[in-house]
Amino acid sequence: MGPLGTRYARNLTPDRETGIGAQTDAQLARALRTGVMHDTYLRSLEPIRNPVPRGEWALFGKLLFTYALPRLTPRPVDGPPAVPAGDSPTIERGAYLAKHVALCLRCHAAVNPRGFDPGGPPGGGGLPGPSHGEDRDMEFVAPNLSSHTTGYTGRVSEDEFVQRLRAGRIHASSLMPWESFAATSEVDLRSIYRYLKTLPPVDNDVGPTYRKRG
Ligand code: HEC
Repeated sequence: MGPLGTRYARNLTPDRETGIGAQTDAQLARALRTGVMHDTYLRSLEPIRNPVPRGEWALFGKLLFTYALPRLTPRPVDGPPAVPAGDSPTIERGAYLAKHVALCLRCHAAVNPRGFDPGGPPGGGGLPGPSHGEDRDMEFVAPNLSSHTTGYTGRVSEDEFVQRLRAGRIHASSLMPWESFAATSEVDLRSIYRYLKTLPPVDNDVGPTYRKRG
């Protein structure tokens, strides 16, 4: 990653020493759902034997916690609810896919460099980024997918959208995982289109999506 350093994608095979073989299903599930890895800092500390007594509230403490302060209750991890596939397209299924599974809205929105969260309007188009292929002199920009006339779903019909996603990759070095989307069911593609149509229209013509850098 240039001046930022060097990162390696981990070994995901079940080798016990160099892969994920020594992790339990629960640890893997937690890592995927919450981003908390199995080697959390607290587990890495030296064990110290020290029985600590349970505390007790005085009357004033009890009154305060019972009547004056908001209840402190654990909140479940607030992940997106999965929306199962149905027989016909729905906006809810499209939202689930576009936001959380196929990540259309991750790439097709301007990224906030602090935290790498999408900072721009959802689906309103990304920022240009250099190609990671042989064509280093070129850059890509993920186009606006909103229903504005400058956006993809504003210009093409639902049928044309399905055909385009099915037709697949045009630019060899594009980051968009066209191959992964090729097997998406027609109902799911139509759901995604219908969801994209519900996004606030964004006036943003990104220009050619593949072009000379700068
Ligand atoms: C990893 C980033 C990434 C993801 C994820 C992604 N895209 Fe893209 N998308 C791009 C880039 C970059 C381009 C421009 C280059 C190209 O056309 O391949 C693009 C282009 C497109 C185009 C324009 C094609 C054309 O002919 O001009 C459409 C439509 C599109 N994406 C829809 C989607 C949809 C729908 C999803 C989710 C199912 C999605 N994208 C997910 C990065 C992404």
